Amino acid sequence: MPGLLPAAPVALGPEAWWLPGFALGRAPALLDAIAGVLAQAPLRQMQTPGGRRIGVAMSNCGALGWTSGRDGYRYTACDPLSGKPWPALPALLRALAADAAAAAGLPDPAPDACLINHYLPGTGMGLHQDRDERDLRAAIVSVSLGLPAVFLWGGLRRHDPVQAVPLAHGDVVVWGGADRLRFHGVRRLARAAQAPWPCRWNLTLRRAG
Ligand code: SIN
Ligand code: FE2
Repeated sequence: MPGLLPAAPVALGPEAWWLPGFALGRAPALLDAIAGVLAQAPLRQMQTPGGRRIGVAMSNCGALGWTSGRDGYRYTACDPLSGKPWPALPALLRALAADAAAAAGLPDPAPDACLINHYLPGTGMGLHQDRDERDLRAAIVSVSLGLPAVFLWGGLRRHDPVQAVPLAHGDVVVWGGADRLRFHGVRRLARAAQAPWPCRWNLTLRRAG
């Protein structure tokens, strides 16, 4: 059934790849893993350093978790809501990061952090660089589940042209090395509900510390 086979990888740069359907077979287990994490570290809406509420709800798992607040963007070992360490990174996520990096021809980032982003229709994420990590060449592995979304893939400068990448359930994007500081974002999801998914999940696996 060729229609069910993932499409071929698409290069987004010398060290950046879109891997359509790469995580499709693991999606049910990934959704279970997310539910397990959120039972310990619930989704919450963070604030930007400027005090604006971020529309996408977030949580984390791994030794380090990304947070944003009045005191800026940073990685913390404990969930500020509970004061307890973030839930452990499920082995399934570590393995997915290694496999996706290998498929992209990049070294295993050996992630110690996974940001969980929860998008409802009408939410999106502005163009930004991921630059709060210690090693700004280690690959980022980004997994999309649920509702489709348009990933905005820019250049190394904020005003460089932006490519629209239509991400679907089970797609993975990997970027490292020379492409590690590319600007990226997510176009606001359409307001109309798109069955069977009520929302979009994005998992961003990173080596932060
Ligand atoms: C992010 O850049 O943290 C999120 C990317 C995505 O949701 O696809
Ligand atoms: Fe990002």
